[in-house]
Amino acid sequence: EIKSLEEIFEAKIARDEKIEPKDWMPEKYRQTHIRQISQHAHSEIVGMLPEGNWITRAPSLKRKVALLAKIQDEAGHGLYLYSACETLGISRDELYEQLHSGKAKYSSIFNYPTLTWADMGAVGWLVDGAAIINQVPLCATSYGPYARAMVRVCKEESFHQRQGFQIMMTLAEGTPEQKEMAQDALNRWWFPALMMLGPTDDASVHTAQSMKWKLKRKTNDELRQQFVDQTVPQAEMIGLTIPDPNLKWNPETKHYEFSELDWEEFWQVVKGHGPCNKMRLDARRNAWNNGEWVRNAAMAYAEKQENREVK
Ligand code: ACO
Repeated sequence: EIKSLEEIFEAKIARDEKIEPKDWMPEKYRQTHIRQISQHAHSEIVGMLPEGNWITRAPSLKRKVALLAKIQDEAGHGLYLYSACETLGISRDELYEQLHSGKAKYSSIFNYPTLTWADMGAVGWLVDGAAIINQVPLCATSYGPYARAMVRVCKEESFHQRQGFQIMMTLAEGTPEQKEMAQDALNRWWFPALMMLGPTDDASVHTAQSMKWKLKRKTNDELRQQFVDQTVPQAEMIGLTIPDPNLKWNPETKHYEFSELDWEEFWQVVKGHGPCNKMRLDARRNAWNNGEWVRNAAMAYAEKQENREVK
């Protein structure tokens, strides 16, 4: 029995086998992976900026070392993801172009400002916490290079989440002013962190198809519920209050109920009108432009080496 390429592809997905770069895949599968993986890569790189803001002001050498290491990890994640994306037949230059021209999306969460040192705690605890919830299922995603990148990324995210929680815990156990600073950071980051996991399932245009292809293994709402259920007891443990008057444990469903999120705010941020969108894109564009001489020098050096070998 001769099977079509499409049938072979579908059978692999059904058997939970990975799709590899040289395998045949539907064009829409390729495009949707370029979309998600590139948005993910851009998010890692733009995500370095809010925390980069605090490197010079970390309260101790130990905190500075941990923060620096974490931000470097994010750069590494971006590079893995750009490489995974390139296996789908798009170049790194095109991907950067999409980011710098404002055409590409990156995670909404990185368009919020980091106002105090406690934000380094809240970002690690909540943003990286939400990132792990989203990325652990992606270790089982159907596209091989993406799934393999996620394994290491998740290990590193888990260190990031713990270093953030440790900052929050220290502040919450500190002076009243320090505890207040931690609570203020939680108040500002809680809802953006929930929105980061994407629109509700009924508003999510890509979920149904991405679940069929096993690109996504859990829906946005499932991940959000998991994040809330996991994080509320952590807040209680360090004596901080989740800023949601409607938060309530439901003993029947064994889940927390929470407020409807401000989706208008979410879409404004996604469309480029969040508090820091312009600042973040300007920072990336400037970094690219200021690095031009390095790229030129590397090209000139490579050419020189090549000419030498000919002789
Ligand atoms: N910020 C910006 N845009 C978003 C966000 C968000 N938080 N959530 C959804 N969107 C966009 C989608 O990209 C999509 O836009 P597009 O059609 O122009 O691509 C649109 O809103 C509709 O959303 P969905 O249909 O739900 O899109 P999707 O199925 O891709 O789900 C999700 C969104 C959950 C973010 C998914 O893409 C994903 O899991 N991505 C990988 C993880 C990731 O990117 N994490 C980044 C932050 S983690 C970190 O960097 C530390």
